[in-house]
Amino acid sequence: MSRATARAHANIALAKYWGKLDEGQNLPAVPSLSLTLDALVTTTTVEFDGGLAADELSLDGRAAKEKEKKRVVALLDQVRAEARLTARARVTSTNSFPTAAGLASSASGFAALALAATRAAGLDWSRDAVSALSRAASVSAARSLYGGFVVLPAGGKSAEPLAPGSHFPLAMIVALTRAGEKSVGSTEGMIRTAKTSPYYAGWVEHAPRLFERIKRAVLGRDLGVLGPAMESSALAMHASMFAADPPIVYFSPTTLAVMERVRELRGSGIPAYFTMDAGPHVKVVTLPEHAEEVAIRLAECNGVLEVIRCRAGGDASVADAPAGES
Ligand code: PMV
Repeated sequence: MSRATARAHANIALAKYWGKLDEGQNLPAVPSLSLTLDALVTTTTVEFDGGLAADELSLDGRAAKEKEKKRVVALLDQVRAEARLTARARVTSTNSFPTAAGLASSASGFAALALAATRAAGLDWSRDAVSALSRAASVSAARSLYGGFVVLPAGGKSAEPLAPGSHFPLAMIVALTRAGEKSVGSTEGMIRTAKTSPYYAGWVEHAPRLFERIKRAVLGRDLGVLGPAMESSALAMHASMFAADPPIVYFSPTTLAVMERVRELRGSGIPAYFTMDAGPHVKVVTLPEHAEEVAIRLAECNGVLEVIRCRAGGDASVADAPAGES
């Protein structure tokens, strides 16, 4: 087969990854734990075509910029080397959500690309091997190969499924606070934090403890323990960035307003907890029975553009595999 289409869901870390153990191999310095989301999906088709002079990449219907193509071509080169292929590829990718605004589009994007490219090249790789391939392009992408709760250990080459979403049914409401792309990319942000922030060492030391607490809370289905620990993980990660030189501040006034709204919700007896990534958006975890009320209250916040209601999503999958494959 020289053509394949794959779908992967975005994931949001409850225990955050920030910082690389090894820049060259793109290995994470701290362990992370994520929830894969059903409503945020990337669909990618890869077709190897001997008639092409160069790899072509279309993102949400427009030709990609050279900068966006770089990591995609690097991944395709690796696949070509493994499959002993020389043909260039036509890659078409569409997101069901805004690209590159800190909304984990690189996670679902590189997971879908890695799965589609290996299948299109005729490589019958395990999910673990595809997870490792996507990690080399974007660490968080390694986690999007799996559905539900997923772990990526410190120094890990690939992610591991921890539990299906049905183990601990949660809702995640994504509050979009700004259109457009983020100012500092996550790779640049991590390198700057590691090099210049006096709090980076503290983050790397503390993150594994928060990870363990979060993992136990997920396995024990305890939102009362999970919630405060996931907020700590996000805030400790952002604190390490605030102290970088120059500082990295992804928060906007709306980010802070949504965090305050989440605290108000808790004050009124609704279990809701926030997390933020390399962007101004806020993702709020709650129990399914409170999801609608939380979504409405977040949408009412000044500056919130849109809310996206999510539940746990499934494994990344090949869309047009021959019968019998998945
Ligand atoms: O793998 P990257 O470069 O997309 O980095 C993701 C980092 C965070 O989203 C901020 C945290 C995480 O664990 O996903």
